[in-house]
Amino acid sequence: MIRKKVIAGNWKMNKTATDGVTLAKDIAAEIGRETGVDVVLCPPFTALASVAHALEGQSIKLGAQNMHPEKNGAFTGEVSAEMLRTLYVTHVILGHSERRTYFAETDAFINKKVLSALANQLKPILCVGETLAEREAGATLAVVQRHVEGGLAGVTKEQITTVIIAYEPVWAIGTGKVATTEQAQEVHAYIRDLLTKLYGAALAQKVRILYGGSMKPANAPELLAQKDIDGGLIGGASLEARSFIELVKAADAAK
Ligand code: 13P
Repeated sequence: MIRKKVIAGNWKMNKTATDGVTLAKDIAAEIGRETGVDVVLCPPFTALASVAHALEGQSIKLGAQNMHPEKNGAFTGEVSAEMLRTLYVTHVILGHSERRTYFAETDAFINKKVLSALANQLKPILCVGETLAEREAGATLAVVQRHVEGGLAGVTKEQITTVIIAYEPVWAIGTGKVATTEQAQEVHAYIRDLLTKLYGAALAQKVRILYGGSMKPANAPELLAQKDIDGGLIGGASLEARSFIELVKAADAAK
């Protein structure tokens, strides 16, 4: 089963609209016609419109970093799926560990967002992963199971292949401590087993599972060569054109 690799850049709370356009154009100049890899840029909300404009006619896709599950209403500071759709957004990161930690997002709330994204033709990038304390307590797989099953509750067989899952061990995010290929592959294989139990083997084989956490051009080839690692969700290394382009090229070479 050949799954098309995905390289997604999570810019987090970085880049003004102007700086985002510069970065998106620098990336598009080199890989804007890339078709062997699904490339997704996820700027902050304030840069989505201008980055969408800068990416017109390119194969690079646009993602948001969060959204609210409701269609509209009194939710000060929030943004709906429909609002994102009008900006040509196709993907949305949901359940990132920074949202779980700093904004107290629960699996139940994240699940509502996943269902709302799917109902509005947005592809969720559902983030799952354990903290260092959870890993040291031997709870990694239990935590990942809770995040996967909780996040995907009610997602149908028809919808599951449009969901992308990102395994991001919290202790590897922004720390320079990348998971070993064995640690990452073990959890990715476990996630695929969970998907097999929930949706059957044929569909589980089609779901892309990304690794995230200090992924860089130097460590990417080995990670991307693993059987169940289908790409990367990139933080720090997505903020600079050169390193992001090299990651896309590494994914293309790993196909
Ligand atoms: P870093 O690549 O900076 O470790 O961040 C990973 C991440 O959180 C992507 O969502």
